[in-house]
Amino acid sequence: MPELLHTLHVDLASVAADRSYPIQIGRGLITDASIWQPLVEGRGVILVTDDQVGPLYGEAVKAALAGAGQLTEVVLPAGESHKDMTFIQQILDAALAERHERGSLFVALGGGVVGDMTGFAAACFLRGADFVQVPTTLLAQVDSSVGGKTGVNHAMGKNLIGAFHQPQQVVIDLDTLATLPAREYAAGLAEIIKYGLIRDAEFFAWLIDNAEALKSRDAAALAFAIERSCAIKAAVVAADEREGGVRAHLNFGHTFGHAIERIQGYGDWLHGEAVAAGMVLASRLSVLRGTLDPQVVDRLTAFNQSVGLPVSLPADVTAQAMLDAMGSDKKVSGGKVRYIVLSQLGEAVVAENVTDDDIARVIDA
Ligand SMILES: NC(=O)c1ccc[n+]([C@@H]2O[C@H](COP(=O)([O-])OP(=O)(O)OC[C@H]3O[C@@H](n4cnc5c(N)ncnc54)[C@H](O)[C@@H]3O)[C@@H](O)[C@H]2O)c1
Repeated sequence: MPELLHTLHVDLASVAADRSYPIQIGRGLITDASIWQPLVEGRGVILVTDDQVGPLYGEAVKAALAGAGQLTEVVLPAGESHKDMTFIQQILDAALAERHERGSLFVALGGGVVGDMTGFAAACFLRGADFVQVPTTLLAQVDSSVGGKTGVNHAMGKNLIGAFHQPQQVVIDLDTLATLPAREYAAGLAEIIKYGLIRDAEFFAWLIDNAEALKSRDAAALAFAIERSCAIKAAVVAADEREGGVRAHLNFGHTFGHAIERIQGYGDWLHGEAVAAGMVLASRLSVLRGTLDPQVVDRLTAFNQSVGLPVSLPADVTAQAMLDAMGSDKKVSGGKVRYIVLSQLGEAVVAENVTDDDIARVIDA
């Protein structure tokens, strides 16, 4: 029996009343006709998935979409290396060939790659069609499916082409996590602990205390952690949809993390793994600046170790390589690298005046 556990709202009413949308969290939701019926009744659906998630959940979702009009399925090759314009073209070609109209609904069934690409295709299709996110990785459930950033990679860098396009709804089915490989799962936990670090000290403490339950994918622990993470992300996005201010706090650990990914040429460590090590460095930077209790670094390190996440840089990566890579991050603004630090546990700020020497000290510590 499907079980709806939480419904949250991303409140973008200050931007436009019709831009707010629900995030539904529960078990068995992907097959719950009462969720799908109001969304798809009488309209065409373009279901986009990948060749790993499709065979697992595609048929069940298609069965639940019975009330829809014309149904088109697009199955993309899985993985970050296929997140490019070629496959946006493939999605759009399929939608146009089957004569979908602007009223048709795009449904993204998969991880962040499928979600980002489907959202971008929906933003482009006939100048903007609706889409629903059905995230199936932990990272996508707590991060990429919420907030409306969509897009693809370019040879010049990650996520350089895209649009802000908010979904109509986010449907998070905890049961889909049962099939997620362990490393992908742990990568999602890195984004979850980030929310505690930047916004909620109590949640951070709860995560530390419940690391074992989370590692074993305990349903109640997961439901709470996902709900709390989505609530924090929704609040940040509502306050700053287009990253003019506080949304940058979500990049805590990411300046270091992106540099690790860039040095490795992407595809060695997962994004969440690089962010996990990056958050340890960003926390150490906060300690160096005198704003954070060093115990937080110890607790974060212990959490990472217990759930199987890295706590330091890959052995062959030097401080100089990190500095060079961070200088070419797309988030460099006005020639300055923007570091997010903690002014205390649960509170993030953009750091001013971080020197290369500070970074070298943090990395070599
Ligand atoms: N839009 C945003 O705000 C935002 C935020 C963070 C990350 N992202 C993007 O998200 C992407 C990473 O997302 P991801 O970590 O979900 O990676 P992913 O989409 O590549 O999924 C990881 C792998 O897990 C497989 N998979 C997915 N769900 C599964 C399941 N339930 N069972 C078994 N296998 C499953 C996928 O087929 C894939 O092989 C990156 O492209 C990143 O840029 C976007």
